[in-house]
Amino acid sequence: QAALPPGYKVRPLASDDYERGFLDTLAVLTEIGDISKAQFLERFNYLKQHNHEYFTIVILSPDDRVVGAGTIFVERKFIRNTGLVGHIEDIAVNKNQQGKKLGLRVIQTLKYIGANRGCYKVILDCSEKNVPFYEKCGFTRKEVEMAWYC
Ligand code: ACO
Repeated sequence: QAALPPGYKVRPLASDDYERGFLDTLAVLTEIGDISKAQFLERFNYLKQHNHEYFTIVILSPDDRVVGAGTIFVERKFIRNTGLVGHIEDIAVNKNQQGKKLGLRVIQTLKYIGANRGCYKVILDCSEKNVPFYEKCGFTRKEVEMAWYC
């Protein structure tokens, strides 16, 4: 496991991480929208009720702010003898905290969760520019992503 810098910690997403800047952290990914606390809680509670298949983790800085985040979703298949596949989604590290191995730690933690849940593989989609990061996290290039926007 990559060591976190002193004072940083990793833990599951908590209901009061709205106030700790969880959504600001996700803003490095894409447009987030104007999400109210009620909307956040509605999604948080859904994930909590489905915590056998959704795991969102965060990294906290020494001043108790969310500075990193990531999710693994466990898909139930028929193939591979009703196998499980882990999908890593929404990996984000605050701009001013990048390069401290926080992203690597998020990925290591999610891989560990996926393996422990019994997934036979863990996959993700990323941009070309993030390929070197994911290679450093132990992933290899496979297939091609296709998308259709509704
Ligand atoms: N190109 C080359 N190497 C990289 C890159 C890059 N773009 N990013 C990180 N690395 C390397 C680092 O140099 C480091 O290498 P080292 O071990 O030899 O020193 C290693 O990868 C680990 O880097 P971290 O410090 O853990 O990376 P960081 O904490 O900055 O997180 C991340 C990387 C998550 C991509 C971050 O830059 C980020 O949040 N970017 C914006 C959002 C984003 O693109 N997220 C990923 C979307 S894909 C998805 O969610 C499945």
